[in-house]
Amino acid sequence: MDVIHERAAFAAACGSARGAQRMVGVVPTMGALHDGHRALLDRARGENDVVAMTLFVNPLQFGDAADLRAYPRSRDEDLAVAETAGCDLVFAPSVREMYPAGDPQVTVDPGPLGDRLEGTSRPGHFRGVLTVVVKLLDLAGPCTAYFGEKDAQQLELVRRMVRDLDIPARVVVCPTVRAPDGLALASRNARLSPAGREAAPVVFRALSAGVFVVGSGERDAERVRAQMCDVLAAEPLARTDYAAVVDDATWDEPTVVPEVARLLVAAWIEDVRLVDGVVARPASASETAGGERAE
Ligand code: PAJ
Repeated sequence: MDVIHERAAFAAACGSARGAQRMVGVVPTMGALHDGHRALLDRARGENDVVAMTLFVNPLQFGDAADLRAYPRSRDEDLAVAETAGCDLVFAPSVREMYPAGDPQVTVDPGPLGDRLEGTSRPGHFRGVLTVVVKLLDLAGPCTAYFGEKDAQQLELVRRMVRDLDIPARVVVCPTVRAPDGLALASRNARLSPAGREAAPVVFRALSAGVFVVGSGERDAERVRAQMCDVLAAEPLARTDYAAVVDDATWDEPTVVPEVARLLVAAWIEDVRLVDGVVARPASASETAGGERAE
């Protein structure tokens, strides 16, 4: 496995792989790898000739210097995970290498969805995410890029960017990997105290409660939201940031639960912000009426 630090060398490695008719899969990460990242790497390994992981803690997407400092870093372990997962190359640039002129003056505008939900609590976050992702994909060249469903809003914005800016990447989504108690794996989970870790599955419980009421026939999105908020409020260590019901296709927040809804929750536990989401589909009218499906 090659570990590359320079942009030009990364671009050259991806370019020469493509020149040899080899398909390139790219997995962008900020390191502190866990089994969620591992699932992306495994999927990429199964679908490509060459797998490149990027490892870069992108300062541009952190609003707060303290959060950036506290972000877990475990470079040696990350390289070992990448190697075991069969990565061919890891691109691990310094901040100076990625942003040689300092903070970039030209950045990617995420559009209106960038200011909602995660964007309300983290102004500028998605501008930072999309700016680094476009740079990484531009260096990599035509490829398949792998993203996790856990960060569903990020995934949606990356998809929109690839579509709207004609970026020659195919975006593949990988399902959320969870701990047995439902907590979505996340690098920041490592910062939870034992009590915080015990409380953290409340986020998934809230989402599951939302899925349950939607499946039981609730059509009022506000009531579904309230149900998720109630579950979160019952956990003293959790502070709700938002609970939302969006249309999975448009990301609008309708008053009536749509055919394919995405339920989203963000909550603080101690000083760790947990973000998660799941799909919920209303039961069909016949199912809610009598439990029998129409033929
Ligand atoms: P990071 O948080 O390291 O996540 C890298 C990728 O792993 C993202 O696509 C994320 O959605 C996915 N991922 C994280 N936890 C997961 C889980 N439990 N199950 C499945 N996939 C999971 O997201 C970022 O980095 C950055 O914003 C980045 C895209 C690299 C840009 O800097």
